[in-house]
Amino acid sequence: MMTKVKIMLVFGTRPEAIKMCPLVNEMKKRHDAFDVTVCVTGQHREMLDQVLNVFQVSPDIDLNVMKPGQTLFDITSNVLLKMRVAMEECEPDAVLVHGDTTTSFAAALAAFYLQIPVGHVEAGLRTRDLYSPWPEEFNRQAVDVISNWYFAPTETSRQNLLDEAKPNERIFVTGNTGIDALRHTVREGYSHPALDWAEGSRLILVTAHRRENLGEPMHRMFRAIRRVMEERPDTKAIYPIHMNPQVRKAAHEELDGFDRLRIIDPLEVVDFHNFMARSHLILTDSGGIQEEAPSLGKPVLVMRDTTERPEGVEAGTLRLVGTEEVAIYREFSRLLDDSAAYAEMSHASNPYGDGHASERIADILFQSM
Ligand code: UD1
Ligand code: UDP
Repeated sequence: MMTKVKIMLVFGTRPEAIKMCPLVNEMKKRHDAFDVTVCVTGQHREMLDQVLNVFQVSPDIDLNVMKPGQTLFDITSNVLLKMRVAMEECEPDAVLVHGDTTTSFAAALAAFYLQIPVGHVEAGLRTRDLYSPWPEEFNRQAVDVISNWYFAPTETSRQNLLDEAKPNERIFVTGNTGIDALRHTVREGYSHPALDWAEGSRLILVTAHRRENLGEPMHRMFRAIRRVMEERPDTKAIYPIHMNPQVRKAAHEELDGFDRLRIIDPLEVVDFHNFMARSHLILTDSGGIQEEAPSLGKPVLVMRDTTERPEGVEAGTLRLVGTEEVAIYREFSRLLDDSAAYAEMSHASNPYGDGHASERIADILFQSM
């Protein structure tokens, strides 16, 4: 009998879990090929646990690092030290990390120190500005210095890796595993009390959380959104808010008392995808939402100065609007008032994959070990 490949998958935040759980489940299905260990760092707690429940993934190891108001020093040092123990005990043949979080960076570094090969899921995204998004651009570049396998979601990300002289034979364009989940979540006839509340209005979906936007940029975003909506009574907004207390404080300061915008707790991913599918448009600084919205044909105003997801901009679904109040006010108003501009942005396309990325990654790993 062939020996199984021992793989450790490491993740810790909501978006990593959404994009790694489909891969966990795909690899677990292949039990003759893989011996799978799921290690969560717990960089997020409630927001991570929501996703684990949805995908019915139970971690084998939970480093449980989250502290309220944690700094990058806290996350990096705690994950690095605790990962050492977990990896020394597990002795995997390879470690898989995802994307650009501090969990991914510190876990990849721990694997490197123990000379365990690393596979990077969602490799090759770039803005080339280390401070935007911060610290994610550094994290993903650093993981790509360490990695042995690059699972690039698109041709553009493959080219970014080639531009850095990463070896062609280790780069695999697989699509994004985030799209794998979308195949199963969006349903006809889905209902939710918050959607009933918004019935008959144009539904705006809002999220915001980026570290570089904390403070004044976030206040500017919220002020612009409120001003535009106050002027248009046929709009209602739902804002499933991130658990970061700094985000919550800014949002409540700017948005309380405006009853056509509802701030609610983070939604489970199945709910969130169905909210996206029912929305008129989305305002966000999220990464993952920029990948999901094109598949659903939903216009997104990206409240950031840079994006590592140019494919969605080229497809016409995303528009980068920055974080200045005037610019967000102008672009948001235009999209609500100009039906031709809206129609131009609201068509479905799949620049981030066909929903079979996990299968490809599992095949490649098995063949190359
Ligand atoms: C992290 C990632 C970011 C990713 C984002 C997704 C880093 C440096 N940042 O940012 O790349 O886009 O997750 O959401 O890796 N909190 C809770 N419960 C939770 C989650 C967070 O209370 O379940 C609170 C805690 O007070 C925590 C704060 O939110 O200190 C911020 O969480 P943290 O993981 O440090 O940063 P994010 O902004 O979530
Ligand atoms: N999402 C969710 N519930 C919410 C808001 C977002 O499940 O209330 C999902 C969303 O569909 C996407 C991911 O979370 O898959 C994006 O996570 P986030 O914006 O926190 O992080 P980023 O992608 O910016 O790293």
